[in-house]
Amino acid sequence: MAARILLIIGGGIAAYKSLDLIRRLRERGMSVTPVLTPAAGHFVTPLSASALAAEKVYGELFDLTDEAEMGHIELSRAADLVVVAPATADLMARMANGHASDLASTLLMATDKPVLIAPAMNVRMWEHPATRRNLATLRGDGVLTVGPDEGAMACGEFGFGRMAEVPEIVAAIEAALGAGPLAGRHVIVTSGPTHEPIDPVRYIANRSSGMQGTALAAALMRLGARVTFVTGPASVPPPQGAVVARVETARQMRDAVMAALPADAAVFAAAVADWRVLNAADRKMKKDGTGRPPALEFAENPDILAEVSRLPVQRPQLVVGFAAETDDVVEHATAKRARKGCDWIVANDVSESTGIMGGAENQVTLISDAGAEAWPRMGKEMVAEQLARRIAATLAGGDI
Ligand code: C5P
Repeated sequence: MAARILLIIGGGIAAYKSLDLIRRLRERGMSVTPVLTPAAGHFVTPLSASALAAEKVYGELFDLTDEAEMGHIELSRAADLVVVAPATADLMARMANGHASDLASTLLMATDKPVLIAPAMNVRMWEHPATRRNLATLRGDGVLTVGPDEGAMACGEFGFGRMAEVPEIVAAIEAALGAGPLAGRHVIVTSGPTHEPIDPVRYIANRSSGMQGTALAAALMRLGARVTFVTGPASVPPPQGAVVARVETARQMRDAVMAALPADAAVFAAAVADWRVLNAADRKMKKDGTGRPPALEFAENPDILAEVSRLPVQRPQLVVGFAAETDDVVEHATAKRARKGCDWIVANDVSESTGIMGGAENQVTLISDAGAEAWPRMGKEMVAEQLARRIAATLAGGDI
């Protein structure tokens, strides 16, 4: 695709990855015009950016005053997409406040094209209330974001703030251009726990954070998918850009999933309660003075995954379930795949010692017709990325 990218490289150590980004974009047939902020010049040289892009590199606003040069308005509009990578805390602050104090910020003010930023900064800077505010402002302005990821940083700290890896940025660029492998595809993702009421103030829940489902929805969207995100009361916010259906109970989740059909794929990452309280009280239960605890009766919840897997008409082409097990993971998950009738089961060991449930990492085994494929332990974001790619490849190939 002959898309034209205006790549603004900010002044951070992650700028070195932007050189590789230029190569990967060019491999895909895109043209890249690099703009280096003055600070970026301390990390990468204009010569390397220019050589890799095979284009002139722009740096100073005053470069553009020459009649022979392209003016900044023209430069900002000649692109199909403006990408800022790395987007430093300072650059984000200037963007959020509408500064036009140098070439990069002026181009960002002058453009009429979509803007995608790949933030990269120290974890404290990323978590600083000022950056939170700026991010919210930018998202409100329609700026697209990719990353940052969690991990070890060049400054020696650990946390969120690492610039997204190059393949992730490439995928986000393709999605922003409407060109990702999942463009035109609809995927339903369930996520988070369910709450099953006991009475109006109490409920039965589980420890699911919604992190894996959220990361997966975001990864699918980066590949261009339209995602309906059906979420129970999770502890992480839903991903930007998804159509979000918020539910509490398993039965509400089922109804929301059915209402979202048809879909090309459905991924059931929610930790759905198997049982609901049949005799839930409509008033707060009180101690009755006898010392006898109330007896709760349970009824089985609908199994959404099994139901969708067996739909006669609207069954998505690919149905993926998760299996959280504490023992004999592969054996149980293989049996679950057959029982539920889904195409894949993503199995993981959630026994307490693994720290997976509610934690940032996951170690999964993908169970399909082809057998059991154990993936190494990695961040939930990375699991999501790999799974989303596998889903894209499978839908494209039609081979499940
Ligand atoms: O049977 P189990 O709860 O272990 O199955 C887990 C898989 O089934 C997950 O993909 C989960 O989202 C899905 N599920 C469901 N509806 C239920 C129970 C589980 O969709 N009532």
